[in-house]
Amino acid sequence: MSDLPDQPSSSAAESGNTDTHVPVMLDAALDHLLGEHSHGIFVDGTFGRGGHARALLQRIDASSVLYVIDRDPAAIATAYELAAQDPRVQVVEGCFSNLKAELADRGVTQVTGVLLDLGVSSPQLDEAQRGFSLRLDGPLDMRMTASGETAAQWLNTAEPHEIIRVLRTYGEEKFARRIVQRLIAARPLERTLQLADLVRDAIPRATQKPGGRHPATKTFQAIRIYINDELGELERTLPDAFELLEVGGRMAVITFHSIEARMVKRFFKTGCQPPSPPRHLPLRADQLPQPKAKTVAGPMRANALELADNPRARSAELRVLERL
Ligand SMILES: C[S@@+](CC[C@H](N)C(=O)[O-])C[C@H]1O[C@@H](n2cnc3c(N)ncnc32)[C@H](O)[C@@H]1O
Repeated sequence: MSDLPDQPSSSAAESGNTDTHVPVMLDAALDHLLGEHSHGIFVDGTFGRGGHARALLQRIDASSVLYVIDRDPAAIATAYELAAQDPRVQVVEGCFSNLKAELADRGVTQVTGVLLDLGVSSPQLDEAQRGFSLRLDGPLDMRMTASGETAAQWLNTAEPHEIIRVLRTYGEEKFARRIVQRLIAARPLERTLQLADLVRDAIPRATQKPGGRHPATKTFQAIRIYINDELGELERTLPDAFELLEVGGRMAVITFHSIEARMVKRFFKTGCQPPSPPRHLPLRADQLPQPKAKTVAGPMRANALELADNPRARSAELRVLERL
């Protein structure tokens, strides 16, 4: 289960600037993504506000290339600003699940490193109009993209059992049935605070800790994951990103949710196992199938210093895989 902050990220909220994002596990992610490399073709599949991308650009040489991808138009606008300053940056707007096709269109079939820093960015959470926040009133949107079904459209039309399934599966919400009963009675839902208050009222008071997380945190997270098909995106992308890696190339993934973390763990484990040897054939040790990959890091967590500074890092887990 994720532990996303249920309020605007502290740094942004305190400074009044809603367009900043503090990159999570920055040094560890780049150290392990690069290993000995300082040259090559790299992909940042989750550009956000470019925290990881900018630091990566400082560590790769002048003839390297960095493809930056994001499906959020606001993130892409920042990416173009960076590309205008640094000719190594190539911007790709869209889902990271299209990365193989997008790179192939640009004549790229092998890369040295792929970084995925999953989930939402602080500007997405901090901007009321985006509808991700349960503390700032805004339209119940929650889309990372500029198109597709909004959270309000889905909540106002989906079958109750489907909403219950989403809250249970992606939010591990014990009170999903009670929440959905209230939600159906209150339709149409239009605003984030309307949903947040409704969920608070649906959940037994005795289970709500004073000063604890907002009781609607799990519901908001589950709906966001569903609306943006976050798990489907990850599932489709892991094998494609791995196939793109050159030998010695690495893939670094930062997850914030237990289902994402399990998916990455399982994928890395399968990649690291050698294919089964043919049965009934006597083989010497050096003839046995070799593993296709090795895990070079993970799961790693943010250290205490970072956790004190950045609440988003609480549930982050970094895993890095190298193609052999
Ligand atoms: C946690 S933020 C990344 C922050 C970034 N590493 C930084 O330092 O600024 C995640 C970003 O990935 C984007 N994103 C999430 N899922 C995506 C997907 N399937 N395809 C493309 N972008 C995605 C979000 O729009 C968001 O901007």
